[in-house]
Amino acid sequence: MSYQKKLTIGLFGYGVVGSAVYEVLQQTPSLEAEVRRICIKNPQKQRNIDAARFTTERSQLIEDEAINVIVEMIDDADAAFDIVSESLCRGKAVITANKKMLAAHLPELIDLQRRYDVPLLYESACCASIPVIRNLEEYYDNDLLRGVEGIINGSTNFILTKIFEEKLGYDEALALAQRLGFAESDPSLDVEGHDALNKLCLLLAHAYGILTHPSALLRHGIHRLNAIDSDVAAAQGAQIKLVARAVKQDDGRVAAFVLPQFVQPPHLLHTVRHEYNGVVLTSALADEQFFYGKGAGGFPTASAILADLSALRYDYRYEYKKLLLQQPSTLCDDVPLHVYVSFQDWQMLPVDAFEEIHEYFSGRQFHYRKGVVSLNQLLKNDWWRQAGCR
Ligand code: HSE
Repeated sequence: MSYQKKLTIGLFGYGVVGSAVYEVLQQTPSLEAEVRRICIKNPQKQRNIDAARFTTERSQLIEDEAINVIVEMIDDADAAFDIVSESLCRGKAVITANKKMLAAHLPELIDLQRRYDVPLLYESACCASIPVIRNLEEYYDNDLLRGVEGIINGSTNFILTKIFEEKLGYDEALALAQRLGFAESDPSLDVEGHDALNKLCLLLAHAYGILTHPSALLRHGIHRLNAIDSDVAAAQGAQIKLVARAVKQDDGRVAAFVLPQFVQPPHLLHTVRHEYNGVVLTSALADEQFFYGKGAGGFPTASAILADLSALRYDYRYEYKKLLLQQPSTLCDDVPLHVYVSFQDWQMLPVDAFEEIHEYFSGRQFHYRKGVVSLNQLLKNDWWRQAGCR
């Protein structure tokens, strides 16, 4: 695709994000991007534009020679993979926001991009409006990145902000996140930490050249937090945040996980509230750098899709430099983590689980322990999953 070539788009999905992309494109004539056809699942649904633009047949987009860009915004990861891979095979550039699909299939998708010499861009799939992927790919193009730490799921951050600052109940806060269009159609993907983990896999690929399946990494969401955990955090001047981390060890290996975490000022992530996301990059030379912006919602996500469309006009593509042109890092799990684990029942806690104990509390129906547990112990065992652990 040459510079300033007109973009003729086949759009898959017309939900919160798809409709926002359509609307934004109508207001951005300078981009010279036209939506030729939109593929949707349910033709009966009332929509705000001419029904003739819609089809339920995906072949009408994928097989249309006039369409040179597929923008895929559906939430079914399996169907999205079929659409994206077939489109790449047909030589079409693809933009997708589907982090679940990307995290599950990144090696195959990188291979398809190279084989068919077409770009696949997905800035919107991680942190919506924050241009973190392109920055990791282009700017941090060296081995000086010591760590990536972020709040990368807007819904859980919104829920936790409502719980801590407005004393809303968990269910009420989740329902609000759903109503505002932040949550996934299956909100367990948000609250159980899957969504953040899928995004972390994308960050690992672009930060360190690590390709890993999400199932290989440690994950815990916010669904088991209880009011007493919040009180324990608040008593320390902290808030609980769902944090994704990739930490480079002295030997070059990387420890990566998604866990709820006590975050106290002056930690930069303490300032990240509501559906905002924040990513702190730690570089050997520049120290900490902070990316901040809306991490969920139709228009913030559409802003990144617009940036990807614009990039396609000058044939931008990810080079996966750290994976393909440098020596990629590897993952490790033999690292100590400082954790807080709360229980209703002491019996649930294996005697030798902690390497060090720094603090404990025992009440009538609530106990907690703080100390050091190895990442490997948490990955391989389940005793802590019933508990509030961070
Ligand atoms: N459900 C996602 C979130 C949407 O809350 O972050 C944006 O990826």
